[in-house]
Amino acid sequence: MAPWAAVVVWLLAESAWCASHLKFPSGFKFGAATSAYQVEGAWNTSGKTPSTWDTLTHNRPQLITDGSSGDVACDSYHQWKDDIQIASELGLDFYRFSISWPRLMPTSFPDEINEDGRRYYDNLINGLLDKGIEPIITMYHWDLPQRLQDHGGWSNPLIVEWFEEYARVLYKLFGDRVKNWVTINEPFTICTIGYAIGAFSSGVHDPEVGTYLCIKNVVMAHAKAWRLYHKEYRKQFKGRVGISHQLFYLHPTSEEDEEIASLAHEHYYGLYSHPVFSKEGGWPPGIEKVIEKNSKMQGFTRSRLPAFTDEEKELAKGAYDFYGFNYYTSRKIRRRRDGESLGQLSPMRNIKELDAILEVDRGWDRAACFWFYVYPEGIRKLLSWVKNQYGDVEIVITENGYSTKPESGSNDYDRIKYYRDHLEQVLLAIHEDKVNITGYTAWSLIDNFEWNDGYTTKFGLYEVNFDDPNRQRTPRASAKYYKNVIQTNNIEIPKKFSTITDEL
Ligand SMILES: *[C@@H]1O[C@H](CO)[C@@H](O)[C@H](O)[C@H]1NC(C)=O
Ligand SMILES: *[C@@H]1O[C@H](CO)[C@@H](O)[C@H](O)[C@H]1NC(C)=O
Repeated sequence: MAPWAAVVVWLLAESAWCASHLKFPSGFKFGAATSAYQVEGAWNTSGKTPSTWDTLTHNRPQLITDGSSGDVACDSYHQWKDDIQIASELGLDFYRFSISWPRLMPTSFPDEINEDGRRYYDNLINGLLDKGIEPIITMYHWDLPQRLQDHGGWSNPLIVEWFEEYARVLYKLFGDRVKNWVTINEPFTICTIGYAIGAFSSGVHDPEVGTYLCIKNVVMAHAKAWRLYHKEYRKQFKGRVGISHQLFYLHPTSEEDEEIASLAHEHYYGLYSHPVFSKEGGWPPGIEKVIEKNSKMQGFTRSRLPAFTDEEKELAKGAYDFYGFNYYTSRKIRRRRDGESLGQLSPMRNIKELDAILEVDRGWDRAACFWFYVYPEGIRKLLSWVKNQYGDVEIVITENGYSTKPESGSNDYDRIKYYRDHLEQVLLAIHEDKVNITGYTAWSLIDNFEWNDGYTTKFGLYEVNFDDPNRQRTPRASAKYYKNVIQTNNIEIPKKFSTITDEL
């Protein structure tokens, strides 16, 4: 960022100094997150077998902006003590990380537990607990064992059982110490984005059919894992199991677009959430009808959206302890105009099923990722959307954060501004809209392998030196800001920002 821009941000912060005196309620928890493939490295050591991300980055490096991979990444497999140290430095209540399925279970199945993998996660969990930091585990953050992908991955209904078996191993090994579990991270990214672009995880391109097979299987896999805990482990371990959904707000372009915006929310988030979180269960009826109608018109004899049996519907309904909520960006939505082309199909640009166009507002600032435009009000609107759809479900914000270019270094005032403005909207959601939000998670604790962006965009509160064999972690200004928020329960950017930078 140019120096003048920092001044502008600073002035904005000054003018906002008095805007908000709202506080997070007592018991509210702050954390930060990472995921296994993005930070661990050690892709082929200590008995780990390949995941879909190893395969994708090695076989199709052209899909990654800088042709890189997570082979070494932040080397958290060896530098985990540093990660605990900085989580402690920040004063985090919890650290959310994910387990690499093929590291713990090299065959993908419970016939073999990799002792090195088990020791790694034990060390991480115990080290966090020693520092008074709660470990929150994501079971699945996109690095599917390649062996399971070879058998169809998320489009094979058997994955529901494979995932249940995996969850059982996790509960057995770590359930005595881990009390909050996220089954699956961002099913929307796995199924809707993944099968639409074909350049992600599975590498399979099939938006028309693949997406919906994936959605149903993800919902059922989550439900089975939740039921398993409920039936066999809850009594003993007294923990909770949720799922983390990524949502971006779809703002109607005009009043006429409100109906399409509502259907689009059902399509992008309701398909994943309604079967689990709604009172009636099953697919959201509006979008279910649309997909059925489109399928018939296209000559399919049945809907491309697979039906639930009554038994499946009952199994999924109510299978949650909290709603994990990830937010980064928003779009405006409108109907396609007569004669207008939908353009290149992309879930961030259009929704073919609804004949709708997604755009950005010219007034929205842009972060470093191509998809990332900043609209803080979007997070509040979506939190209300969840409440309106599913009632007073407890929401844990499991990700929110901002990307910068590598050259912007550690003086990341724009990231601070992003966090401040979004935390303000979260406070408004809690106090004005009475949304039941109990925690907030910054993405990410450290710079890491940012999927198709490789190392060209940075999300870390801590900068990682990827040229250093030890991958040294250095706090950015935003780390100091976030630490201050946690310590003081005050989101405002301290007046003498330079002092706080020196001090912390
Ligand atoms: C692991 O992968 C690295 C490349 O990232 C390679 O140099 C090394 O030989 C591999 N080690 C084994 C044991 O296969
Ligand atoms: C928030 O959710 C928790 C867990 O379901 C529940 O115990 C609590 O009563 C809810 N709070 C409100 C204000 O609805």
